[in-house]
Amino acid sequence: MTELDSAAMEDEFGVVARWTGEAARTLGPGHAVPAGCRGSGSTGALRWLADRLHLTSGSLLVDSGAGVGGPAAWAAGDLQARPVCIEPMPDAVRAAQGLFGLPAVVGTAQALPLADDVTAAAWCLGVLCTTQDKAGVLGELHRVLVPGGRLGLLVFQLAGRAPSGPAPDGNSFPTVDELDRLLDEAGFSVVDTTVADLHDNPPGWDDAVDAVDAEIARRHGADPRWIRSHEQSARMQALIESGSVVPRLLVAQSGR
Ligand SMILES: C[S@@+](CC[C@H](N)C(=O)[O-])C[C@H]1O[C@@H](n2cnc3c(N)ncnc32)[C@H](O)[C@@H]1O
Repeated sequence: MTELDSAAMEDEFGVVARWTGEAARTLGPGHAVPAGCRGSGSTGALRWLADRLHLTSGSLLVDSGAGVGGPAAWAAGDLQARPVCIEPMPDAVRAAQGLFGLPAVVGTAQALPLADDVTAAAWCLGVLCTTQDKAGVLGELHRVLVPGGRLGLLVFQLAGRAPSGPAPDGNSFPTVDELDRLLDEAGFSVVDTTVADLHDNPPGWDDAVDAVDAEIARRHGADPRWIRSHEQSARMQALIESGSVVPRLLVAQSGR
């Protein structure tokens, strides 16, 4: 098993992923995709990326750091794309397989278990800030993309002012300049970028997320791993609401 950069992240992305899958299954199909989008923003954000990645029916989509698989399931369901999920936490991989029937394997973004030049499209959503090795993640995405292939990113970035509070354990947020430099060094050129609207979801979406959270809390609310995970989410929420961390969407093209 791959260890993440902090124990709190292992709770959040491991056991809580399993609990999310279990609760979503109990509550029914309308809950799985919303609850499975952990940190990927909104369907509006996914649509913005999908348009610029030119995803259509049958497109192969590598999802690096796929979590429980909500964004990949959205791409499979709404666009009939063919996602392949890579995710270090075995509990999350099992949830993606069990909830959505997605092809999902355990692996890290720094060592994708894929051949060179295998796909024209990849995305990596809410992952870069969870690892120190951002150059390694971008280098691997560049390796698996064909020349001219496109990468979609959701990155939580420092807005240039002092953070209003502590970051979630294990997270480190790049500045806009740092990310631009890392992309350039990895061989990418930015095609388009915007600030993500994290609330651009269809009616009922947020209710489904809340219902799954309430069900997990009912089952595991006293468990210290749930409490720590909740604290992680609350810290992230506070940074975004204060404007000191900004969710940025970005599509970049791979060059050689
Ligand atoms: C905020 S969640 C986002 C999950 C998913 N991309 C989504 O949008 O719903 C961050 C994910 O990154 C994964 N992650 C953390 N470090 C990673 C690494 N080194 N390689 C790949 N994934 C990683 C975590 O396990 C977690 O599933």
